[in-house]
Amino acid sequence: MKQDDLFSVAQNTVADFSFDDAVADVFPDMLRRSIPGYENIIPMLGVLARVYAQDNTRVYDLGCSLGAATLSVHRQTRELSLEYICVDNSSAMIKRCESTLKRHMPTTSLKLICDDIQNVAIENASVVLLNFTLQFLPPETRLSLLKNIYQGLNSGGILILSEKLIDNDSEVNQLFIDWHHEFKRANGYSDLEISQKRASIENVLIPDTLQVHQRRLIEAGFFKTYQWFQAFNFSSLIALKQ
Ligand SMILES: C[S@@+](CC[C@H](N)C(=O)[O-])C[C@H]1O[C@@H](n2cnc3c(N)ncnc32)[C@H](O)[C@@H]1O
Repeated sequence: MKQDDLFSVAQNTVADFSFDDAVADVFPDMLRRSIPGYENIIPMLGVLARVYAQDNTRVYDLGCSLGAATLSVHRQTRELSLEYICVDNSSAMIKRCESTLKRHMPTTSLKLICDDIQNVAIENASVVLLNFTLQFLPPETRLSLLKNIYQGLNSGGILILSEKLIDNDSEVNQLFIDWHHEFKRANGYSDLEISQKRASIENVLIPDTLQVHQRRLIEAGFFKTYQWFQAFNFSSLIALKQ
C-alpha cells in the first residue's frame, strides 16, 4: 500500500481536493488513516448484504473509488446471482477499480461506469451503497439522488449510507473534530498534513447532521433508517424500503 504524503510539503495555496491520479495512487492508505471506522465498515457492508441482497438483482456502488465496498459484498454473497454496477466520476478511480475487481470477480457480473452518480438509472436493486460519497454532492441535489435510489430499489432492499457528520451542538462538534484530528495524528499524519488536507477538502466535502440525513431519507420514501455505526464524526446508516 503506497503511503499518503500528498499534504506533507507546505503549499502556498492549497487547491481544492480532487480524486485525481495522485489521490487514487495512495487512496487505500488515505482512507485507512483518515476515516475512523473505515476498516470496520467495509467488511460489515458484506455482512449486511448477506441479509438484504436478493437473488437476480443488482448491487449499486455509487462513488465506488477503488471498489473496496463492492469486493466486500461480493465476498459475502457468492451464492447469489448479482450484477454489480460500480459508478464513479473520477477516471483515475474507475481505471484502477476495474483492474482490481476484474482480478477478483467474474467480469460478466460487473459493470463499471465513469459518470456522475446523478446520471445513473437505478433498476432492480436490492443493495445500494453510498459509502462516503453523498457528502461530495451539492446539498441541494442530495434529496433527488435519494429519491432516484428509492424508486430503483426492490421491496425489502436497502441503501447503506456512510458519511462524515457535523453536530448542531458546537461543543460536541468541536470535540468530534479534535478527536478525529487526534486519530489522524495517531496514524502518523503531521499537523501540517492535517491542516492542509482540511483546507483542501472543506469546500468539497459538505457534511450534514445525522438528523438531516435521517429526515431526508424518510422524505425520499424510505420506511425506516437505522444508524448502525458511529466512530467520532463518521457514521453509517441503513435505509430500508418496505
Ligand atoms: C470517499 S470516496 C468513496 C470511497 C468508496 N466508496 C469506498 O468505500 O472505498 C468518494 C468517491 O466518490 C466519487 N464521487 C464524488 N462525487 C461524485 C459524483 N457526483 N458522481 C460520481 N462519483 C463521485 C469520488 O470520485 C470518489 O471516488
